[in-house]
Amino acid sequence: MQIRRATPEDFEIIYNLAVNTWNVTYEKILSKEQLDYMLDMMYSLNAITDQILVKGHHFILLSENNNYLGFASYELNYLSGIAKLHKLYVLPETQGRGAGKLLIDKVEEAAKRNGNNIVSLNVNRYNNAVNFYIKNGYKKIKEEDIDIGSGYLMEDFIMEKSL
Ligand SMILES: CC(C)(COP(=O)(O)OP(=O)(O)OC[C@H]1O[C@@H](n2cnc3c(N)ncnc32)[C@H](O)[C@@H]1OP(=O)(O)O)[C@@H](O)C(=O)NCCC(=O)NCCS
Repeated sequence: MQIRRATPEDFEIIYNLAVNTWNVTYEKILSKEQLDYMLDMMYSLNAITDQILVKGHHFILLSENNNYLGFASYELNYLSGIAKLHKLYVLPETQGRGAGKLLIDKVEEAAKRNGNNIVSLNVNRYNNAVNFYIKNGYKKIKEEDIDIGSGYLMEDFIMEKSL
């Protein structure tokens, strides 16, 4: 498996990975309406371009034999000394083969290299990925409900790992 940095030109690759992963991940957690609303808010061409070029989020893409299988995005110095993992998605058929661990390791390496000694993230409280993060050294810090407009809420845990 290989990992490379993504640019806004990779928008379609990122979008397709997100759609394919989100539908399976969130079908029992979110209504179809909320899922589509959030995909549009976070993964439209404008949203991804803004995240990369304006907000300075770093996107990394994982591939194997020229097939893209997953991605992560993160932000250094989100708060003083703290990096934020914004996104981590591996295609359903690829999950359980070490791709998620490779991606999160890359994020943690980049954080450390840049003097960020904590990685923070938000994860839906009903998402099984909470257990992946616990397995990989993250701890639940608190609960956070975020109003994302149109009557929708994100019901998250904030989790953190000290590097
Ligand atoms: C969560 C996710 C990124 C993990 O990636 P993955 O490629 O499936 O995980 P890996 O194969 O790298 O697993 C690494 C380790 O974590 C463990 N693990 C993976 N998923 C787990 C889970 N849901 N619960 C507990 N442990 C888990 C693995 O057993 C493995 O342990 P090992 O090192 O002892 O073998 C992936 O399953 C995914 O994309 N899920 C859907 C999307 C999602 O919810 N993303 C997070 C949004 S915040």
